[in-house]
Amino acid sequence: MAPRAGIVLAAGMGTRMKSALPKVMHPIAGLPILGHVIAAMRGAGIDRIVVVTSTDGESVRSFAKSLGAESVIQDRQLGTGHAANCARDALSDYSGPLIVTFGDHPLFTAATFETSFAASEKGGLALVAFHPRDRASYGRVILDADGYVERMVEHKDATAAERAVTLCNAGVLSADAKSFFRWSAALKNDNAQKEYYLTEVPMLARAEGVRCAVIEADESEVMGVNSRAELAAAEAAMQVRLRKRALDAGVGMVAPETVFLSHDTVLEPDVLLGPFLVFGPGVTVRSGAEIRAFSHLEGAEIGRGALIGPYARLRPGAVIEEDAHIGNFVEVKNARIEKGAKANHLSYLGDARVGAGANIGAGTITCNYDGFDKHFTDIGAGAFIGSNSALVAPVKVADGTYVGAGSVITKETAKDSLAVTRAEQKEIPGWAEKFRKRKKAEKAAKAAKDK
Ligand code: UD1
Ligand code: CA
Repeated sequence: MAPRAGIVLAAGMGTRMKSALPKVMHPIAGLPILGHVIAAMRGAGIDRIVVVTSTDGESVRSFAKSLGAESVIQDRQLGTGHAANCARDALSDYSGPLIVTFGDHPLFTAATFETSFAASEKGGLALVAFHPRDRASYGRVILDADGYVERMVEHKDATAAERAVTLCNAGVLSADAKSFFRWSAALKNDNAQKEYYLTEVPMLARAEGVRCAVIEADESEVMGVNSRAELAAAEAAMQVRLRKRALDAGVGMVAPETVFLSHDTVLEPDVLLGPFLVFGPGVTVRSGAEIRAFSHLEGAEIGRGALIGPYARLRPGAVIEEDAHIGNFVEVKNARIEKGAKANHLSYLGDARVGAGANIGAGTITCNYDGFDKHFTDIGAGAFIGSNSALVAPVKVADGTYVGAGSVITKETAKDSLAVTRAEQKEIPGWAEKFRKRKKAEKAAKAAKDK
């Protein structure tokens, strides 16, 4: 494919978010907004991406870099048109199709960019627009008699008649790069805000006889984020999209609206998801596994036929192999639970291996931390850990060992042995009967005295 380039404007203050975190770094489905924009651009074959950042946008620049994008600095926020111009030097060696877009639109899809490229390659310039439910955050697009952009006007600068226009700028502009920079170089800031508006590019192109075509998109693909409320609305829209993708791929969900997915959640066909689940980043679930209600998973790999939850917590590094069971109130972190092993109730398994077919009794704890370092617990295949046992790491429980309930294991056990550390049981015959008799007599005596 011929090269394509894109500019992402991300130097704005994001003041309406009232946050110390740059707006484009706020996560949606576990990925910063900018990450979604760049992923959609990559999907549309945009191999050269320049992100415009502010002087203090160091976190934005390093994130962009991690995604293979270049970045430039706009040292003063003089408007979206000025921001786009800041990318000119970085792209001076480039000629070909260009997209200029905003970094605060997490729901863009590759298809949005593709359609925009197609339209600009045909007519010279194209703009994506939409009809939002709430227009207050957007500029209006005023069309000419032929349906091309005549001009755009920001909400705050618009007259009542202009505000009544429902078509709004979704912030994707595409053109040939050389033409775009010729137009953007001519932008002026002679408006009330004293800003260089990117939205005036279509008018400058028009002066050269190039008309700006309009592509209409749905709000669920192009909505922007300026406030916490819009961030929450975008998250909800992204969740709808991710759930639909999973359902379409053959994932069973009892109550999809209660399942929260991450941008990178991998769910194979015939995975079954119960209600009220939270997937943090980095989770893969193989076919035939079932995740039951109220479980929280992050950085975990779940094998075929495994059964997780209800109320399970899987943390980064949890690998649950085929047919293994992790039950209620069991926390697993950086631990491999091998094929068919079971930990069904109330346990902490951290920095450990649980061998195939092993059984972890209720209340088992791997004591992995001494206040300074983490240590490993190795539990062999077929081992049986009695309830309420503490395995003090580093420690090894050999294959087939039985650990008696309530034991504190600090030394390596021998294969197929019984390891038990609890004190021996003592009995005093008849003690309970004598005790009850004495207590009853004392109570009766006290009652008689009080009368
Ligand atoms: C902008 C558009 C508006 C459109 C809306 C879509 C303009 C003048 N207005 O308005 O027509 O409907 O987006 O969401 O273009 N930025 C910079 N440097 C600057 C100013 C902004 O990099 O000097 C970046 C911001 O970080 C942001 C994007 O450009 O990612 C848009 O800026 P923002 O202030 O959010 O513009 P809107 O008021 O939303
Ligand atoms: Ca915006």
